[in-house]
Amino acid sequence: MDMYAVRLHEFGPAANLAYERVPAPSPGRGQVRIDAEAVGVHLIETTLRSGRAVGPHLAPDLPVVLGGEVAGAVGELGPGVPSSWLGRRVVAPLASYGGYAERAVTETGALHEIPGIMTAETAVAMVTTGATTLGVLDAADVLPGDMALVTSAAGGVGALLVQALRGRGAVVVGVAGGPEKARRAAELGADLAADHHDPTWPDTVRTALDEASRQVADLGVADDHPEWPEVIRAALAGSVQQVAEPGARVAHHDPGRRDAVGAAAGGAAGRPRRRVSPDGTGRRVGLDVVFDGVGGTVGRRAFELLAPGGMFLLHGWSSGTATRLTTDDIIGHAATVVWALGPRLLRHAGSLRELQARALRAAADGALVPLVARYPLSRAADAHADLENRRTTGKVVLIP
Ligand SMILES: NC(=O)c1ccc[n+]([C@@H]2O[C@H](COP(=O)([O-])OP(=O)(O)OC[C@H]3O[C@@H](n4cnc5c(N)ncnc54)[C@H](OP(=O)(O)O)[C@@H]3O)[C@@H](O)[C@H]2O)c1
Repeated sequence: MDMYAVRLHEFGPAANLAYERVPAPSPGRGQVRIDAEAVGVHLIETTLRSGRAVGPHLAPDLPVVLGGEVAGAVGELGPGVPSSWLGRRVVAPLASYGGYAERAVTETGALHEIPGIMTAETAVAMVTTGATTLGVLDAADVLPGDMALVTSAAGGVGALLVQALRGRGAVVVGVAGGPEKARRAAELGADLAADHHDPTWPDTVRTALDEASRQVADLGVADDHPEWPEVIRAALAGSVQQVAEPGARVAHHDPGRRDAVGAAAGGAAGRPRRRVSPDGTGRRVGLDVVFDGVGGTVGRRAFELLAPGGMFLLHGWSSGTATRLTTDDIIGHAATVVWALGPRLLRHAGSLRELQARALRAAADGALVPLVARYPLSRAADAHADLENRRTTGKVVLIP
């Protein structure tokens, strides 16, 4: 049987990705063939395509069909696989490459049944990118009311982090490249959205946080008061009067959704923390936690917005350079700096499979809704070009 796949014969630009007919793979013992409805694309695959290694990921042998996550129906069973798998809708990370294709094979142990009426593109957006998001969040000590900054806040991980943090009751600052992406971050739930193409963005964030915390202090609401998160959120939205009266609530606040998202994302409740204000007066706040997947100048400037005692989590360096920090930086901010991937990602969940299952449940519950950028499989080259040139929002998914 033949199929269409996207093959790379020579390392180089996105245009080297060729959509062509190739023999379909057959499942071996313990494997199934998935007839793909959606296929995930990762930013690191653009680097591998150009022939460069990324961390532990070496450049592949050629020719190769890139791609490592597929959702669709089980179309064929290898020897030893129970017949009950046939026809089931599944999503799976692949052990190796082979994703950018109409059909892919993988071990049954990697399969997750797609819950309910979930679309294949949602499932494929959650199985790795959603799992990473929840693992990174597990590595942070987020309490309601924490001031959390997310870089690349309209990206695959970023869009989910913004939602999950709101679910935990955090006050979220989303940073993204360009006004359109900043607007998307705000739509996803960021209380404050900044465009890092504007070099003054850190001053804008600092001024907004200072002004809001001054207003809240003037209202006499202490930062460990249970209503503090909602009051500071209202102050950031410029509507603090709405919550100044006892018992009043912020119009856009929906505690039911917050609790549902928080539970799906791994727990939430608690009293806001007593934070150390940068000037010791309680009338200014810095960030309690930064989630940095971009690195470079953006990550460095985000670090400088941390409050004393804050936490800086790194989960990538899409800019090409991880955020540079020295021990003087760490001591000066009394910061906790965490590389949130690798063993740390699994420390709370215990296994990647558990994180994947949690991510799928969060989407099934409607607690997390992935932002998806769709491309036909035949246009994989355009998807790569857009992703590496920062023209995408959300998770890039190919549709065969
Ligand atoms: N997805 C996963 O499962 C996963 C797993 C482990 C690690 N990570 C890491 O987490 C980070 C975010 O991953 P993601 O999958 O959600 O990707 P993503 O954020 O959707 O990646 C694309 C975005 O990265 C930002 N970016 C900044 N500098 C860039 C550059 N020089 N070239 C291309 N993009 C640049 C751009 O956002 P702006 O325009 O807003 O700056 C761009 O739209 C990455 O560092 C990734 O390696 C992801």
